Amino acid sequence: MATSKTVLITGGSSGIGYEMSIYFGQAGYRILWISKPPDELGQAADKLRAIFPDLELHTLCKDLSAPKAAQEAYEWAKQIATIDVLINNAGFGTYGFLPTIEMEEELAMIRLNVLTVYQLTRLFLDDMMARDAGTIINISSNSSFQPVARMITYASTKAFITHFSRGLQEELDLQGSKVRVMTVCPSAIQDTPFSKDMRGVKTFNGLAYTTAAEVAKDVWDGFEKGKTFQVTGTKMRFFYAIRRLVPYSLQQYLTRKETEWVD
Ligand SMILES: NC(=O)c1ccc[n+]([C@@H]2O[C@H](COP(=O)([O-])OP(=O)(O)OC[C@H]3O[C@@H](n4cnc5c(N)ncnc54)[C@H](OP(=O)(O)O)[C@@H]3O)[C@@H](O)[C@H]2O)c1
Repeated sequence: MATSKTVLITGGSSGIGYEMSIYFGQAGYRILWISKPPDELGQAADKLRAIFPDLELHTLCKDLSAPKAAQEAYEWAKQIATIDVLINNAGFGTYGFLPTIEMEEELAMIRLNVLTVYQLTRLFLDDMMARDAGTIINISSNSSFQPVARMITYASTKAFITHFSRGLQEELDLQGSKVRVMTVCPSAIQDTPFSKDMRGVKTFNGLAYTTAAEVAKDVWDGFEKGKTFQVTGTKMRFFYAIRRLVPYSLQQYLTRKETEWVD
């Protein structure tokens, strides 16, 4: 299998990161993964290698919410290959009214979902701009479009990702750069470990839920078409298209309903 290009996927060993790896594996990319627990990383790597026996897959077990993790991850990846595509996918969410959530847990989430994404984007952007080539795919969320009661901090981290990534694409356009930033906004995904503690939240069976396979297909199709903004899933694209016609108060009412615990 040709390995002329390289993709680095954070959180590649499960969920949409794993599903996206299948598309990049099919296209002959060398794949680099960074995830947390070593057992899961090893098992997922074996599974992917069984699908693509000639795949060049490198894995790094690292907690990306740690302060120096992004710099260390960057240095590890650089010594393996030039990164053509960076996918900032690793992330997690918290649920509940703010005072009921451990502050340390949310601080770790902010470090992972915001600071690490910012830092990896900055580090690889410099290299990509020097080559005038490369793509950064930042996985945000439909929760980035409006405040989300019971998930306010998570939604705020994703609002940062959406604005930062879309703003960066604007700047790249202004500078005439060929580097691309693609912002991806999935709705609630039913079948990933992310949602295992949140299965009782209505949105995972709600108006616009999706699956990891559907998200990965949309990301790959968007990537191939050169898109810079991708709302994933047919149902979510419909709601995104009509949301400007819906008054803010109704949007918030529907969002509140979506995050109710219904189990
Ligand atoms: N699931 C949803 O409903 C949904 C909706 C919209 C957007 N998203 C976003 O989509 C992305 C992927 O989520 P997913 O649904 O595919 O869930 P997932 O399967 O749990 O994937 C998250 C990945 O991030 C890794 N990760 C988590 N914490 C980490 C840390 N501290 N250091 C390194 N890696 C870490 C996880 O590895 P370990 O499991 O090994 O820790 C896992 O591989 C996330 O950014 C999420 O916010 C998810």
